[in-house]
Amino acid sequence: MTLWSGRMGVEPAEVMMAFSASLDVDRRLAGDDVQASMAHVRGLGRSGILPEAEVDVLLAALGTVDEELSSGNFAFGAQDEDVHTAIERRVTEIAGDTGARLHTGRSRNDQVATALRLYTRRELAALARAVLGLQATLLDRARGVGEARLPGYTHLQRAQPVLLAHHLLAHGWALGRDVDRIADALARLDVSPLGAGALAGSSLPLDPDGTAADLGFARRFENSMDAVSDRDFVAESLFVCALLGVHLSRLGEEIVLFSSDEFGFYRLDDAWATGSSMLPQKKNPDVAELARGKAGRLVGHLAGFLTTLKGLPLSYNRDLQEDKEPLFDALDQVSLACRAIDGLVSSLVFELDTMRAAADAPVLAAVDLAEWLVERGTPFRQAHGIVGSLVRASLAGGAPLVELVTASPELGPEAAELLAPGAASARRRTPGGAGSAAVAVQLDRYAARLASDEARLAGIPAHNT
Ligand code: ARG
Repeated sequence: MTLWSGRMGVEPAEVMMAFSASLDVDRRLAGDDVQASMAHVRGLGRSGILPEAEVDVLLAALGTVDEELSSGNFAFGAQDEDVHTAIERRVTEIAGDTGARLHTGRSRNDQVATALRLYTRRELAALARAVLGLQATLLDRARGVGEARLPGYTHLQRAQPVLLAHHLLAHGWALGRDVDRIADALARLDVSPLGAGALAGSSLPLDPDGTAADLGFARRFENSMDAVSDRDFVAESLFVCALLGVHLSRLGEEIVLFSSDEFGFYRLDDAWATGSSMLPQKKNPDVAELARGKAGRLVGHLAGFLTTLKGLPLSYNRDLQEDKEPLFDALDQVSLACRAIDGLVSSLVFELDTMRAAADAPVLAAVDLAEWLVERGTPFRQAHGIVGSLVRASLAGGAPLVELVTASPELGPEAAELLAPGAASARRRTPGGAGSAAVAVQLDRYAARLASDEARLAGIPAHNT
């Protein structure tokens, strides 16, 4: 029997039900739906809509449902269209006529929006914790490599030597912005839609402020039509997941490149690498590749759901049911990717000698030679030209750059010392730059930021309250 059987003269068509049912997807909202239903019932009691005795019966029935759900003993029925229907059906089985009062003043429209916000609040906070974990791993690895250096790249061409710590933290700061975005999204989604009813509220004296507080939301909706049709929090969550996925993809791509024999900068730990079914010698970076591959799926969820939203008139439309599959999948996939990349990065072996040899190619200090000239009064464009022609002559004639610099009338032996291993990265002094002193400061600032982000998220419940 459907929730609306009184209105229709016949049983619903089978294919109609198959097409519209969402239980397989939304059953994971069960715990949140029970919590929201309990808050609704307590609210009905406070407002005097239900007498205390009936409130107690309903709360006890919901408590039984909760136990059945958590022990895996809840029997979903073939007729249950969605998780909300299933729970109301079961409450009515347990509580009889009183169960039939559960849905007083409520619609599935405000109900589903409430449950989904509770779910998203918890899962986004859990995701932020996974990102913070990866950020902490990057800090750990950065601290562990001291002054190790590698070439920094632009256009994937060697550009200047940088400290490996600086390179690793570049990914860490991007992840910090993801945490920031999650915190922002959490603040905006912290609104209870419960009490909005189908779209217009109710003639009964409901207490949306009270139910919002009961569920730990910062505030209630301001407009009931907006409350049941707003899925901005889903779209924002999908964007947060997509951009985080893009960051993990870029980090993944770099691990793929750096662990190739062509680079030889990283070696994968056996536990975090895969082999080949055919080629006995292979060791493959599948975790990094999958992190890269999942980004496509995450971006797809965002684009798909925005498309679902774009033509919808106010207020609730059944199209909105399509919010859950992309949201659940995006949160699942990106948090797993975070944890997998965390494990991969924690266990990477850094081939410091190979990196250092590449970073110490004298030509990577070319701009330092130009800046040496600038410090002695030469205009930069002219200095660039002088050094550029020495590089060209070295490449064309085979003479080492250091010899040409030593012999150069503008440069000479003192300037040639800038080409010594490590000299270039030691000289970098811009705050936030890749030099040793600046990186030491950066490590402290990054650690402080990480600690404050951890504290910021600590207040958000990891489980249903
Ligand atoms: N399963 C539906 C959803 O996820 C619940 C709301 C259905 N409301 C309705 N009026 N048909 O959106």
